[in-house]
Amino acid sequence: MNMDKNTILVTGSSGLIGSEVVTYFDHLGWEVHGIDNNMRADFFGPDGDKRWNQRRLEATCRSFRHHELDTRDRQGILACIEQLHPDLVVHTAAQPSHDLAARRAFDDFDVNAVGTLNLLEAVRLVCYEGGRMRLCVENLLAARGCFVLCNIHYMEDYRHE
Ligand SMILES: NC(=O)c1ccc[n+]([C@@H]2O[C@H](COP(=O)([O-])OP(=O)(O)OC[C@H]3O[C@@H](n4cnc5c(N)ncnc54)[C@H](O)[C@@H]3O)[C@@H](O)[C@H]2O)c1
Repeated sequence: MNMDKNTILVTGSSGLIGSEVVTYFDHLGWEVHGIDNNMRADFFGPDGDKRWNQRRLEATCRSFRHHELDTRDRQGILACIEQLHPDLVVHTAAQPSHDLAARRAFDDFDVNAVGTLNLLEAVRLVCYEGGRMRLCVENLLAARGCFVLCNIHYMEDYRHE
């Protein structure tokens, strides 16, 4: 963790949206960390393999570090948040296909729901002290609109306890 720079953690960093977020914040001079386990290749086969994009980011960004981590790995996500203490988390790791969700319902739920909750809970646990939680809640963005918003309400409710 570099105390002089803002730090962002992007999940799904090798994907379409995540990689754009990485590039954008790298250009702004942030310290950028990405989580991706290339699960898109498991979902969509060789055409879904995003290693090329991971390598492109590693080669072209000034301050990008890839973390080979599965958002379903609750302890791994918690340890990562504890280590990085990011100023901003952008969560785009996902199973994005509605058609595939029907065929692989458990994988879809585990990645999109449980993975998101793992991340939200890790942010809450690590950033709750000293009033920092509000900052994290406001900074927590997500491409998967309504589902994550619903979890943000859960976090804000928790803040009032
Ligand atoms: N692409 C769009 O136009 C668009 C528009 C609106 C919303 N969205 C939503 O944004 C999110 C991201 O979309 P995208 O197009 O960037 O998808 P994408 O498939 O290109 O990227 C998702 C990335 O997440 C990674 N990933 C999947 N499961 C993972 C796991 N368990 N652990 C770690 N990494 C994992 C994949 O390997 C992939 O690189 C999705 O929820 C999608 O529904 C996308």
